[in-house]
Amino acid sequence: MNFAIIGTGGFAGTHHKALMSLEKKGQAKLIATCDLGLSKNEAIQEKFAFGERGVALYDDYREMLDDKSEKIDIVIIPTPIQLHAEMHREVVQRGLAVYLEKPPTLLHSELDEMLKVEENAKFLTNVGFNFIIDPVRQTLKQRMLAGEFGKILEVHFLGLWPRDNRYFNRCRWAGKLFLDGHPVIDSCMGNAMGHFLHNSLFWAGTKDLFSWASPDHVKAEAYRAHEIESADTFFTEIRPTEGPVIRLAMTHAYDGRTIQKELVETEKAFLHYDAYGPCWLEWKDHSKESEPLETERTMFVPENLLDYGRYVKGDKERPLTRLADTVPFVQTYNLTFLASGGIATVPNSLVRETKTEDAKGLSRTRHILGIEETCKTFLNEGLFPSAQNVPWSRPGGEATPAELPNFLPFLRELDS
Ligand SMILES: NC(=O)c1ccc[n+]([C@@H]2O[C@H](COP(=O)([O-])OP(=O)(O)OC[C@H]3O[C@@H](n4cnc5c(N)ncnc54)[C@H](O)[C@@H]3O)[C@@H](O)[C@H]2O)c1
Repeated sequence: MNFAIIGTGGFAGTHHKALMSLEKKGQAKLIATCDLGLSKNEAIQEKFAFGERGVALYDDYREMLDDKSEKIDIVIIPTPIQLHAEMHREVVQRGLAVYLEKPPTLLHSELDEMLKVEENAKFLTNVGFNFIIDPVRQTLKQRMLAGEFGKILEVHFLGLWPRDNRYFNRCRWAGKLFLDGHPVIDSCMGNAMGHFLHNSLFWAGTKDLFSWASPDHVKAEAYRAHEIESADTFFTEIRPTEGPVIRLAMTHAYDGRTIQKELVETEKAFLHYDAYGPCWLEWKDHSKESEPLETERTMFVPENLLDYGRYVKGDKERPLTRLADTVPFVQTYNLTFLASGGIATVPNSLVRETKTEDAKGLSRTRHILGIEETCKTFLNEGLFPSAQNVPWSRPGGEATPAELPNFLPFLRELDS
C-alpha cells in the first residue's frame, strides 16, 4: 500500500515512525507528506530520512493531493481536530482512502456532514481508535456476546491522566472550546482519553462484535482546574438505548501515577482491562480461578495501518471503526456537556499545584483535592461529586439526543 501523511509532528510523528518500520519490512511505502513550512524544515526532513526514502514533500496538503493522487492509496490525517472535516472531504473527493485520527470531530452536526461526504466515498474511512484491534479485547467481547459471563451489568472507566501546563500550551487548540470561530471542544474526554469512551461504548454494544452502544440518557458533571476554556474533569453516566449502564470518571487534574482502568461487570465475572497494563477475568464464583489475559499490548499503530490496508485491497470486509461507528462517541460527548449545564471551575484553594523543573523548563501540575476518591465513589456507587457533597462540586443534570440541536448554541454561550 502507498501512503501519504498530512503532518509530521505530534501524533503524525508516530505515524511516520510506524510507516518507517513497515517500509523496512516491505509492507508499505510513504509516497508523500506535507506540513506547514515543511520544505524549509531540514531537521524534520532528516529525522524521517525523507530524502533517502524518496518521499515527495509539500507545504500544502491540497497541492500534495493534486500532484500525487494517482500514486497514493491511503491518506493518514493525524492533524488538529478542527481540520479533520475539511481534510477528510478533500481526500474522499479525490477517490482516496482515509485513515482519520480519532476523534473524527467533536461536534455531532459536523459528523453528520462528514457522513454525507462519506456516502460518495470509494472506500470507507477508518477512524484511528487504535485499541479496538486488540485481539484480547475482541476475544473477550465475543465471549461476552456468546453469553459465557451472563448478562452485562455495568461498564466503568477510570482515567487519571496527569497533564501539566505545558501540555495545554503545546499548541493553539489545546484546551480550547473554539479556535478562530471554529468549534474545537478539546478535552480529556474528547481527545487524550477519547479512546476510553469509544472502548466503553464498544464493551456495552450488544448487537455484534463491531457494535457501539448508543446514548439514550446522559447525566454528567464537568469541571476545570487548569486555566483552560474547556473542562479537564468529567463524571458521566450513560444509559444506552440497549445494553448496560456506563459510568466514566476522567481527569487531567491529577498529579499521581497514570491510571486507565476499563471494567465490565457481568452476572458471573468482572473483566479488568488496562490498555497499557494487566488484564484479567475475576470470576464471582470463586470456585473458578481468576484468568490472567495476554499482556503484550501496545498502541497497535502499525497493525492498524496494515489492517486498513487489507480493507482497501479488498481482503477485509470493513475497517475496524468506520465513521458511522463514531456517532455514539460524538453524541455522548456533546450530551455530556449539555447535561453538565456548564463547566464548574474548581477554586484554587481546593487545587494543589506542583512545580517541577527539567531540561524543558518549568512544569506546573494541578490536582483537584480528593479527586481519586471522588472518581472511585462515583464509579462504585453512582454518586456524582455533588451527591457526595465534595466542596468543589456543582450539580449537573441530564440530556437526551433530542436536545443535540441545542448543543452548539449552548457551547457558544459557554464561550462568551
Ligand atoms: N491515536 C492516538 O492515540 C492519538 C494520540 C495523540 C493524538 N492523536 C490525535 O492526532 C491528532 C493530532 O493531534 P496532535 O496533538 O498530534 O496535533 P498537532 O497540533 O501536534 O498537529 C499534528 C501535525 O499536524 C500538522 N498540521 C497542522 N495544520 C496543518 C495543515 N494545515 N496542513 C498540514 N499539516 C498541518 C502540525 O504541524 C503537526 O505536524 C488529533 O486528532 C489527536 O486526537 C491520537
